[in-house]
Amino acid sequence: MLDFYSQFNPSPLSIKQFIDFGLNACERKSYLFLRKELPVRLANIMKEIALLPENLLRMPSVGMVNQWYERSFEEIIQFEKMEPEQPVLTQFCERLVHIRNRHADVVQTMAQGVLELKESHEVDPGTENSIQYFLDRFYMSRISIRMLINQHTLLFGEQIGAKQASVNGMGNGGRHIGSIDPACDVVAVVRDAYENARFLCDRYYLASPELELLQNGVASDRPMPIVYVPSHLYHMLFELFKNAMRAVMETHENAPPPIQVNLVNGKEDVSVKMSDRGGGIPRSVSDLLFKYMYSTAPQPSKSDSHTVPLAGYGYGLPISRLYARYFHGDLVLMSCEGYGTDAVIYLKALSNEANELLPVFNRTSSKFYRPMPTLADWSASLNTGSNSQCTRTKNREKLSPSISQGL
Ligand SMILES: Nc1ncnc2c1ncn2[C@@H]1O[C@H](COP(=O)(O)OP(=O)(O)O)[C@@H](O)[C@H]1O
Ligand SMILES: [Mg+2]
Repeated sequence: MLDFYSQFNPSPLSIKQFIDFGLNACERKSYLFLRKELPVRLANIMKEIALLPENLLRMPSVGMVNQWYERSFEEIIQFEKMEPEQPVLTQFCERLVHIRNRHADVVQTMAQGVLELKESHEVDPGTENSIQYFLDRFYMSRISIRMLINQHTLLFGEQIGAKQASVNGMGNGGRHIGSIDPACDVVAVVRDAYENARFLCDRYYLASPELELLQNGVASDRPMPIVYVPSHLYHMLFELFKNAMRAVMETHENAPPPIQVNLVNGKEDVSVKMSDRGGGIPRSVSDLLFKYMYSTAPQPSKSDSHTVPLAGYGYGLPISRLYARYFHGDLVLMSCEGYGTDAVIYLKALSNEANELLPVFNRTSSKFYRPMPTLADWSASLNTGSNSQCTRTKNREKLSPSISQGL
């Protein structure tokens, strides 16, 4: 069955399609779509799991994740031949909720598996690249599968009708369509993410930088509605604020300079640019920023595992960039070492262009799992000091569940 379903390419949906479907919500249609699309997306990524290096597959945490995927795949294909009648629809919905819960800890369990490998084996750069390639695709696949499950269960779950569910559950006057807000106010999300990051920052540093909010470069608090998934935007902004605040507080003991956020709504792109004066990042480490587990923060200690750390797992930037790219946006960092950093989130301004970006399993993707000896085709740089940072995170202990928040 896995071979069968992995032959199909996943069908990416745009935010507009999610909305159009939600407005004329038909549970039978959604069921018929998902009972094929979910196994296709699961099978595509499970084929890539199978291509991971042997010794990584043998790690207990990776084995556990693999089992979760196998079980969920089996559970969904049981619906293959079941007619869309009410008891089946109800059962399907319950099954999806169950699967969502089963996969709640996938991010940190997979991360744990990679740690187990690094603790027990020497990992060569080729393998390191394959793992990075895999994790980006694996976590992206997971974001997309959760999006599909969330839409279905929010629209049809728990016997509450679609519109009622959003009125009751979200208190927004029934505007939401599943997890999408057709009038998601970027300003409100920025403020929310800022306040929550600031709370953590105050706890660590007993102070925090102010926020300066601009639109098109001019101070403004006017709402800026876009069509988007607020929880995704929040996730990215919260991570960027935490990073900016830490950088600012580490470089300014007194009078921390404010963090500036400039919002621009263009024809094609909505851009959210966050500028800090936190001392910046040297170019020699800029290639590492989006590597999983790259962090210059001290490892969050076990003793305060019940509190949310400001930094230290090295998952903030790579996962945030996946959220941005998921609907064909992007997240980039630009820095001037000695001064500060600009981080820009780009989102598609038009909901019909905001298409899901999904990993496809095929011969091209398979190639990335065969590590090839890489010979440099440019002369080497003498600056090698920074790479030692990369291995600094080798011995991280168990990752806290907080890194998967919002996924
Ligand atoms: N605004 C910033 N200013 C300076 N350094 C930054 C900034 N944002 C990210 N970094 C660097 O990138 C690293 C990785 O960030 P991230 O992926 O969020 O992981 P974490 O915050 O857990 O360390 C940080 O440890 C820090 O060294
Ligand atoms: Mg961070």
